[in-house]
Amino acid sequence: MTREVMLVAGARPNFMKIAPVHRSLLDAGMRVSLIHTGQHYDEQMSRLFFDQLGIPEPDLNLEVGSGSHAVQTAEIMKRFEPVLLERAPGLVVVVGDVNSTAACSMVAKKLDGVGVAHVEAGLRSFDRTMPEEINRLVTDALSDLLFVSEPSGEQNLRLEGVPTQRIHFVGNVMIDTLREHLERARETGAVAEQGLAPKSYALITLHRPANVDQPHVFEPMMDVLADVAREIPVLFPVHPRTRPALDRWRARRSEVPQALRTSSPIGYLEFLHLMAEARLVLTDSGGIQEETTALGVPCLTLRDNTERPVTVEQGTNQLVGRDPQRIRDAARQVLDGRVKTGRVPDKWDGKAAERIASAIASWDGALR
Ligand code: UD1
Repeated sequence: MTREVMLVAGARPNFMKIAPVHRSLLDAGMRVSLIHTGQHYDEQMSRLFFDQLGIPEPDLNLEVGSGSHAVQTAEIMKRFEPVLLERAPGLVVVVGDVNSTAACSMVAKKLDGVGVAHVEAGLRSFDRTMPEEINRLVTDALSDLLFVSEPSGEQNLRLEGVPTQRIHFVGNVMIDTLREHLERARETGAVAEQGLAPKSYALITLHRPANVDQPHVFEPMMDVLADVAREIPVLFPVHPRTRPALDRWRARRSEVPQALRTSSPIGYLEFLHLMAEARLVLTDSGGIQEETTALGVPCLTLRDNTERPVTVEQGTNQLVGRDPQRIRDAARQVLDGRVKTGRVPDKWDGKAAERIASAIASWDGALR
């Protein structure tokens, strides 16, 4: 095997996915390069994750930064094309569903003789108002190797007509990372450091445009979370995109319970420990639905749909939508001890990245 495998990452939820893939590709004897698009660039959204997860320094950072979807996607494409032309990898591996994922797969596929592999393929919310859904559809339509994390992914791809031999049900690489680091996460002592006691607090994350960009949606949700904080402490690490909405809500309310605490974004290890010990997690994130299922922690997803149905069918996740009364009722049930138990889905066993590396090693595409 002579040509290199180029691994691409751009935004926070990509980093825990590339870490085990990068290592497994190296272990399998492949020549690997790593490109960071720079979609996320704050210390707390990027560097910290590389450090904590032991991901090597990228070969290149495209430093695209923020922008509208079109501007950001176009900027990534413009800067990625010359890198591909120069390095001429045989395969580009993209992960997840962020703008970097779709942009880089498009550039790669338009160049002669470069294959595309998508890690976390086939997930569908069937909601095309979500930018991530568009990114998933584009990336999967172009990929030569589609690595699937749960059974729905395989079904969706088959229904879309993807040839069976391209689809590989390998399991969940994010859970590889979770299992590897859980012990180290506990050693951070993040729960005590936040002044919290195990199983006696709620952890919140909210950053989806559909939830945070409109005050008439975001603020009633925050009012419910403030009510939850009258019963148990609530910790809310705030994504940069959510910060202005949160400040507006605070300014409008006459008082916010002290037990509702906000913080800047938190590192991977600390957040994992906080999740593992939470009584309840409320979120609109995709990855956190999976991580709470792997940890057996109750999760209320504040969205109307999920592209990760296995977390509801088998795991601890409940889709409660965005209606304040439904969120309030669902939180009430968990606090009263009526929790949904679950089991860890098939192949979320810490070996997904190994399966990916072995499928790439035996791929008969452009690596030779
Ligand atoms: C992106 C992904 C989303 C993922 C999320 C996780 C897309 C379409 N969306 O959303 O799927 O769940 O990452 O975090 O790719 N910002 C900073 N510092 C940073 C990065 C962003 O301040 O390091 C701020 C900027 O104001 C920026 C805004 O956050 O405009 C949004 O960033 P962007 O990368 O466009 O999307 P996310 O909302 O982070």
